[in-house]
Amino acid sequence: MQIKRVGLLTGGGDAPALNAFIRAAVVRLIHGGASAVGIADGWRGMIDASGRELSPADVAGIAAEGGTILGASRTNPFKNPERDLPRIAEGWCRLGLDALIAVGGDDTLGVAERLHRESGLGVVGVPKSIDNDLPGTDCAFGFHSAVEAAARAMDDLAATARAHRRVLVVECMGRHSGWIAAYAGVAAGADYVVVPEEPLDVAGLCRRLTASRAAGRQHNIVAVAEGVELGGELVTADGGRDDFDHERLGGVGELLARLIAMKTGLECRHVVLGHLQRAGRPTAFDRILATRYGVFAAEMALAGQFGRMAVLRGSELAAVPMDAAVGRTRPLDEDFRKMMRMFFTG
Ligand code: F6P
Repeated sequence: MQIKRVGLLTGGGDAPALNAFIRAAVVRLIHGGASAVGIADGWRGMIDASGRELSPADVAGIAAEGGTILGASRTNPFKNPERDLPRIAEGWCRLGLDALIAVGGDDTLGVAERLHRESGLGVVGVPKSIDNDLPGTDCAFGFHSAVEAAARAMDDLAATARAHRRVLVVECMGRHSGWIAAYAGVAAGADYVVVPEEPLDVAGLCRRLTASRAAGRQHNIVAVAEGVELGGELVTADGGRDDFDHERLGGVGELLARLIAMKTGLECRHVVLGHLQRAGRPTAFDRILATRYGVFAAEMALAGQFGRMAVLRGSELAAVPMDAAVGRTRPLDEDFRKMMRMFFTG
């Protein structure tokens, strides 16, 4: 079957370089003789049959912009499958699609994989996550930009921490994995990094800070991932949950700052970097990575490689079955953790 019309949707939280991805996929699809249809707001657009054809002019000049020109949502069609799955099938026909490229994290790709398996729709997956917690790929685009934003924030926060001789606890995004906190923390020379992959050792952390002060250091930066548990529980912002039943995280930085102050007597403050980590312009590295993913995914769709997703293995892109990658998370590499410990203990 010749693939003539391919939908593109961006689901889950947005990530820097989504627009670079969209531009590349649209250009490659048109180059391959197909048309590209931008689906609005993730899976919600498929349910509502909301999409429009994209021309090269629509995507010119967007590669450097953050966000996504298509819009994103955490809509989960499997939350109410009796109502929404028939609507997706109908939307697919109304939009005249032969294939769909779904870009997102584990939730979006989980829906893509299930739709392909249960309804036979021609779906190609692309991993995107600032958290970098998707298995199967060595690096998801958006991660590099988030690390850059977090590391720069830590660099800047060091100035005010130093001026007041304070400890600044910097809360980074990272629901299941501590990739951003760890990479940004190491890049910014933080005094300690706390990630969900390692048991939280408050006594060791406090010893480390106190020892650094005794050795002449006048301030400290502690990076913590939002998904770190305190007392065996995730710290949640407001008790709210999304369509995939994930709690909204937030607050671990504040609690940790209070604990450190209590145990060390040092003056502490906390900062939640939050959405600033995914709000800015993508780094050039992410723009190029997303461009390569976009071209590759478009070629997969044109070749009818459905039920598969594009992944980065070393420096090469490859197409692997989606079911091998969804439903699991990817922890911070053991090697990186080992290296990190060298800086943060003793
Ligand atoms: O995309 C994942 C993520 O960045 C998590 O780290 C964070 O918990 C979540 O998004 C917050 O996103 P939102 O506020 O859009 O629900």
